[in-house]
Amino acid sequence: MAAGALWPVLVLVSLCPLVWGNPSFTIDYEKDCFLKDGKCFRYISGSIHYSRIPSSYWKDRLLKMYMTGLNAVQIYVPWNFHEPQPGVYNFRGDHDLEQFLNLTMELGLLVIMRPGPYICAEWDMGGLPAWLLNKKDIGLRTSDPDYLKAVDSWLSVLLPKLRPRLYNNGGNIISVQVENEYGSFHACDYGYMRHLHAMFRLYLGDEVVLFTTDGNADYFLKCGTLQDLYATVDFGPVDNVTKAFEAMRRYQPRGPLVNSEYYTGWLDYWGDKHAETPADRVSQGLQAILESGASVNMYMFEGGSNFGYWNGADFPKVYKPITTSYDYDAPLTEAGDPTDKLLAIRSVISKFQPVPEGPVPPPTRKFAYGLVTLNKVGDLVDLLDILSPTNPFVTQFPITFEDAKQYFGFMLYRTRLLGDVPDQTPLAATVNGIHDRGYVSVNGHFYGVLERDSLKVVNVTGKEGQWLDVLVENMGRINYGNDLNDFKGLIGNLTLGPDLLENWVIYSLNLDGPISQGWPHTMDNHILGIPVIESRTGPAIYSGTFTITDIGDTYLKLPKWTKGQVWINGFNLGRYWPVKGPQVTLYVPGTILSTSQINNITLLELETAPEKPLVMFLDKPILNGTNVGK
Ligand SMILES: *[C@@H]1O[C@H](CO)[C@@H](O)[C@H](O)[C@H]1NC(C)=O
Ligand SMILES: *[C@@H]1O[C@H](CO)[C@@H](O)[C@H](O)[C@H]1NC(C)=O
Ligand SMILES: *[C@@H]1O[C@H](CO)[C@@H](O)[C@H](O)[C@H]1NC(C)=O
Ligand SMILES: *[C@@H]1O[C@H](CO)[C@@H](O)[C@H](O)[C@H]1NC(C)=O
Ligand SMILES: *[C@@H]1O[C@H](CO)[C@@H](O)[C@H](O)[C@H]1NC(C)=O
Ligand SMILES: *[C@@H]1O[C@H](CO)[C@@H](O)[C@H](O)[C@H]1NC(C)=O
Repeated sequence: MAAGALWPVLVLVSLCPLVWGNPSFTIDYEKDCFLKDGKCFRYISGSIHYSRIPSSYWKDRLLKMYMTGLNAVQIYVPWNFHEPQPGVYNFRGDHDLEQFLNLTMELGLLVIMRPGPYICAEWDMGGLPAWLLNKKDIGLRTSDPDYLKAVDSWLSVLLPKLRPRLYNNGGNIISVQVENEYGSFHACDYGYMRHLHAMFRLYLGDEVVLFTTDGNADYFLKCGTLQDLYATVDFGPVDNVTKAFEAMRRYQPRGPLVNSEYYTGWLDYWGDKHAETPADRVSQGLQAILESGASVNMYMFEGGSNFGYWNGADFPKVYKPITTSYDYDAPLTEAGDPTDKLLAIRSVISKFQPVPEGPVPPPTRKFAYGLVTLNKVGDLVDLLDILSPTNPFVTQFPITFEDAKQYFGFMLYRTRLLGDVPDQTPLAATVNGIHDRGYVSVNGHFYGVLERDSLKVVNVTGKEGQWLDVLVENMGRINYGNDLNDFKGLIGNLTLGPDLLENWVIYSLNLDGPISQGWPHTMDNHILGIPVIESRTGPAIYSGTFTITDIGDTYLKLPKWTKGQVWINGFNLGRYWPVKGPQVTLYVPGTILSTSQINNITLLELETAPEKPLVMFLDKPILNGTNVGK
């Protein structure tokens, strides 16, 4: 049996090279094309982020991309998704990069890898681990030796996994991007880029095509490109194709034209209008690119979701966090469903190369499971035994999340009032002192929100000895621009009236631990012995249950809830903020639901819960809500 089963494998391994010659992927600088096994080749690719899709759906999404007529997919590797603590790696389950790559191979898709170490991607800190900030003045994306040491250590783990998968080694990875839009970063540190180049060559060999991607203007390309790295550009449907490729040609005179990020849509910020790009504009732009003979990657082809705390933020002038949905108005929706845009793209592709026969797989089933009533479990400050089992930090002045080595989520900062505060008195943050939102209560009474770049004062009253509580939320680290060193928490002092507040008791909060273990559903309030205060304001936990008979995807709507975080069956679906919009519903992948067990839903509402604490499941998303909060 064993010997028989081994035979076909041995035959393939020994005969393939003899019959077909060694696989090769290179660049022909005479004919201005990629050479795949000696023949001119162009890729039509789409970006997909495995970190934004539950692993059980990876194959479904990849198959739909294949059926659209793509011959490649482009992939970012988020470093912070895989190395949560220095030297601690996670490649399991939804983090199983190798399983994802295996699926691309099985489906006959080529892969364009973008291993960073910085990736932008509207992902927390552009994929850099927040623990890099343990060195306060670290020079991210530069030759700072401490930064390079961490980078080298990560690349020594990641790149060897890719090497056997390179096309030249019999795998399906045709090219590898070094860094990401480095020319958009102020440092312009060629030494850093040269160092990365050397590391990529060390681990991946001399043959693989290494490339860079930058905006299509000289001021980006100037600092982003490097000799021996193939220079490519990115641009969207509104840009002039000829002009964009002329910019590329000034830095890459020969070789294939490449648009590494052709924008099919755009990201959303909380409080802004939902971004949409019409299908006909996307397909016309794609046609123009393909007519020019270029290779192209569509960004995004499948956006997915910023589950948990993974969203990033931009900082144009003020801090702007990105929504939980990363639907991106892409050809495949957040739920992986084909759109008219996908069909328009497929029809354009079919003019240039054959697309697979047969229909694109249909949308997955969606269910409107209806209403679920929630109950208040308790105010967050009454649940610290469970949510913060370790001793709090006791410090004179506030410390940051990074000081506490808690990189995501929430921390509670509290101090006792030293005297009575009978009149409304301003609790004030320094300019830019709150990263990113602080929910203020005194003695359990909620007074309001301090917010980065906007709300710097909340008036409070209280009595001597009462706790003044500020629950601080990390809303996602800046992923683009020059402000990547984005520390979280109270990064400045607070004053109450004329007084500088001192003697803080600071709790690291771990909500995901207990909730992923089944809390609060595993215990009831009587056992906990917590008197539930029936106030509707201030940070509090709510929970509920529901049963279903069919499993499919669904969308969670939170009518009249204000802002918070939500979990279903221990899976952190992400942030909700319907009063801000434009995202009103959260995508719930059917793969986290159960028909055999009761399903559990847990909310951390940070501000105000509705009179009737209901949530509902719809069969359609609402991503374009109006901004009723403003
Ligand atoms: C990927 O495929 C290879 C070859 O079939 C197999 O040995 C390996 O176990 C697979 N890895 C994962 C994570 O599925
Ligand atoms: C696009 O750019 C090219 C080259 O810069 C220019 O000649 C052409 O007029 C532009 N087309 C449009 C529609 O602006
Ligand atoms: C806060 O209280 C001060 C008086 O201490 C008052 O002048 C101010 O208007 C109050 N602000 C708000 C937002 O209520
Ligand atoms: C708070 O103020 C004290 C005293 O002025 C100062 O030493 C400390 O650095 C400040 N802390 C922060 C986080 O700004
Ligand atoms: C929901 O919580 C209950 C009580 O802890 C548990 O028995 C059940 O397995 C949970 N349901 C799911 C789908 O995890
Ligand atoms: C949101 O999109 C839906 C579906 O496309 C549309 O019917 C609705 O008018 C849009 N709402 C707003 C506020 O733009």
